[in-house]
Amino acid sequence: MVKINEHYTEIGNNYLFAEVAKRVREFKANYPEKQVISLGIGDITQAIAPAVIEAIHKATDEMSDAKTLRGYAPDAGYDFLVNAILKHEFQDRGIHIEADEIFVSDGAKSDTGNIGDILGQDNQIAITDPAYPVYVDTNLMSGRNIELLPCTPDNHFVPPFPKKTADVIYLCYPNNPTGTVLTKDQLKLWVDYAIEHQSLILFDAAYEAFVSQENIPHSIFEIEGARQVAIEFRSFSKTAGFTGLRCGYTIVPKDLFAKTSKGEKLSLNALWKRRQSTKFNGTAYIIQRGAEAVFTPEGQTQTKETIAYYMQNAKIIKEALESLGLSCYGGVNAPYIWCQTPDKMTSWEFFDLLLNKVQVVGTPGSGFGASGEGFFRFTAFGNREATLQAVERIKTCLGTENN
Ligand code: MLT
Repeated sequence: MVKINEHYTEIGNNYLFAEVAKRVREFKANYPEKQVISLGIGDITQAIAPAVIEAIHKATDEMSDAKTLRGYAPDAGYDFLVNAILKHEFQDRGIHIEADEIFVSDGAKSDTGNIGDILGQDNQIAITDPAYPVYVDTNLMSGRNIELLPCTPDNHFVPPFPKKTADVIYLCYPNNPTGTVLTKDQLKLWVDYAIEHQSLILFDAAYEAFVSQENIPHSIFEIEGARQVAIEFRSFSKTAGFTGLRCGYTIVPKDLFAKTSKGEKLSLNALWKRRQSTKFNGTAYIIQRGAEAVFTPEGQTQTKETIAYYMQNAKIIKEALESLGLSCYGGVNAPYIWCQTPDKMTSWEFFDLLLNKVQVVGTPGSGFGASGEGFFRFTAFGNREATLQAVERIKTCLGTENN
């Protein structure tokens, strides 16, 4: 009989958000009359920018004519999108990135998971705890050793350096799930660590568009020396509502090298290119035209308005939770609010309480790692009415609980 990859027996049956969705489905099946509000997975609720929709319509029409239709897309993205990313995200911010260091993809989730393909199994991995579950799950799937770096209120959610020298370090800032950030100086310490220990930083910048404060980096490449030690993942999902359209990109600088078992140095940029051209057939032309439109003046204004709308939700949620005496973090430079559960409840106990009593869904902090136990994540991606209703329901729920 065929043998499985044994490492899959070390991960739970369900991916975190699939488990949450399953419990919500079961609840709805039992109580079809109840109206559930989700502040769980960070999925969009606001219409996609008109500039993006217009570009998608136009690109769709091109497909109806043999003279303008497009077949397979270039593996690393069309020049029109790569050049728009290069100009707006990097050159305009004075960051040195080259066009052939940008790899357009179907999103940061796939890329943060797939990057392990080009890295040896025996690398020592360091991952902040809590973290976006893809990092831990995909490394467990490959059987790698992981050291978790606890991020808690005690260390102000600034990860400690690993005890065991790390070959590969996952950092996500603004952070999912805690919504916290690192300043440029704090991130510089990690770049310096990586240079000193010849480590690779996998920097997930999926939420950079939500940064509102000065001195918080949008890209690790704002930090001197990062080109030698970091790969960065970016996404249009939260920036411009592409969760269902699927488009992201990964920056792999040509200054990055890793060694073979014989000690030979190989370019990670060349290896990622080889991996992508073998396993990936490019992001749809129509979607890439939509992504390009994000960088037009109208696209910029419209997507920024939507981000401001979501961040107003974040403020509403945070203020409401704080008014209930719960300690909350994030929600200023990120669309997530990370709050301590009331009365020392476990994360899943709080999940069940909110779902069963007032039909509000959030994400249990322990699903993001052991250091997330006793915490709960709310997302700001709801629509305003539902968000306001959810906070009223939470107030009712906890008010009654405390009586
Ligand atoms: C989240 O809720 O953490 C994200 O939406 C999940 C994702 O981006 O895959």
